[in-house]
Amino acid sequence: MPYRADGFPPSHESFQINNNAMNARTLCPRLGWMAAAWVITLTLMACSDAPDDASASAPSESITAASAPASAASAAAPVATRPVSYHAARYDPIHFKPAIEQASDQQCLACHAEVLQPAVRKTSIAGVAAADAKAWYQALSTYQGAQDTFHRRHLETPLARQLMRMKCNTCHQGNDPRDEAPGTSASFTGQQTLRKMVSAESMCLRCHGTMNWPVMTLPEPWPKIKDSFQNNCLMCHTVFRTNRHQVNYLNAEAIEEAAAKPNGGDVCYGCHGGRAWYRINFPYPRHPWPGMDTSTTPDWAKDRPTESEIRFLIATTTGDEKK
Ligand code: HEC
Ligand code: HEC
Ligand code: HEC
Ligand code: HEC
Ligand code: HEC
Repeated sequence: MPYRADGFPPSHESFQINNNAMNARTLCPRLGWMAAAWVITLTLMACSDAPDDASASAPSESITAASAPASAASAAAPVATRPVSYHAARYDPIHFKPAIEQASDQQCLACHAEVLQPAVRKTSIAGVAAADAKAWYQALSTYQGAQDTFHRRHLETPLARQLMRMKCNTCHQGNDPRDEAPGTSASFTGQQTLRKMVSAESMCLRCHGTMNWPVMTLPEPWPKIKDSFQNNCLMCHTVFRTNRHQVNYLNAEAIEEAAAKPNGGDVCYGCHGGRAWYRINFPYPRHPWPGMDTSTTPDWAKDRPTESEIRFLIATTTGDEKK
């Protein structure tokens, strides 16, 4: 069956229009009536989604910032010409290498505007009110505002816009929606872990690993000793590893500026231990820095690259620049 039970179509209007039974029949003749029934279900679901969509397109104070660029994009982007069908759109070459490497956010958002809409539930399924809940990873002083979605916390929140310049294809490098288990077919391109659309170990771990405090000659984990450093990483990091963050998905200058303010350690620690989803740390490249002792390399650093990944080098920035 070409459609996955969980492969919900985006609520984007063009799909509701194009998703008619004729298209589905042409695509899968042997599943004719089933597909048609499915499409009807979809249409019904789309209808029951209507209140959400209506509120999303109504000018409301909380969403205008996010929806404005997205809707401007769907008008302007070349891909906004209607895809033949939901199925064709799902397999649009833009989802795969090499096209995804050149894709701009506007192109992706022409079909996926919903990923930047504020869409958190008011209460969890168990009934906990979002407004009252705060998770351990939301405990740093940098955490601001109401609960928001994953995509918005990386692309739209004030902190994200200040410190980062992520694009869709910073994380999304293409995956096969038909087969989400690695190594099961000849077409496997080696980039995904089981059922993941993004490589967690090469992407998320960069900013959600633990702090590698033993290599810093620190006696204890940061939360225990941060007061003795005035919660300021720059006490040492104006001297060590000063050649950092020269990558196209970070705003290096803004990071240093924010980190120099009182409690600036929370800014640095946020990406280097304070929101750790993993119990390991990311093996960062070790760029030579002015004043570095080049006579020896510590054992832990022997296998480290000395430069950032090529696709992130600032000169290779492609597609649209973030505002
Ligand atoms: C022509 C419309 C279109 C464009 C352009 C487009 N997508 Fe999609 N995309 C779809 C459809 C349709 C699906 C399937 C529906 C779904 O799962 O939400 C999909 C699914 C996905 C999925 C889920 C894949 C899976 O394994 O289930 C991701 C992730 C995704 N798109 C990311 C992107 C990114 C990133 C871009 C830009 C590089 C992009 N899309 C551009 C239409 C589009
Ligand atoms: C910080 C990394 C990151 C960025 C940046 C990012 N995504 Fe995602 N995206 C993810 C992850 C992780 C998932 C969930 C993947 C999974 O379930 O395996 C996801 C899921 C999706 C899906 C599947 C539907 C859903 O909501 O679960 C779509 C579509 C999508 N992203 C589109 C986009 C578009 C368009 C952009 C740019 C505007 C974007 N993403 C930027 C990490 C990212
Ligand atoms: C370049 C650094 C960076 C990368 C890469 C990154 N994140 Fe984040 N992440 C952040 C920052 C910064 C925040 C805090 C945003 C805020 O407080 O507004 C955050 C917040 C989060 C949150 C909390 C959201 C909330 O509502 O509090 C989750 C969950 C998360 N990231 C998961 C992921 C996953 C999964 C990936 C990989 C797909 C990923 N991140 C990749 C920097 C990053
Ligand atoms: C006592 C001084 C000191 C303090 C305080 C300190 N660091 Fe470090 N840090 C170091 C040294 C020394 C290194 C390793 C230099 C080298 O590569 O030989 C290092 C390395 C790092 C690395 C690279 C680790 C790796 O595996 O490559 C990161 C990331 C880092 N520090 C972040 C931070 C953050 C974030 C803070 C504040 C929360 C902080 N440091 C506080 C001295 C310090
Ligand atoms: C928004 C997330 C984020 C923030 C905030 C952040 N970092 Fe990083 N840091 C990263 C990422 C991602 C890398 C890896 C970049 C690369 O691939 O070159 C990195 C790399 C480093 C490195 C390795 C340097 C090298 O040799 O390439 C050090 C040291 C470091 N950060 C220290 C700090 C300090 C100190 C602060 C505060 C001034 C800080 N970071 C703030 C995400 C962050």
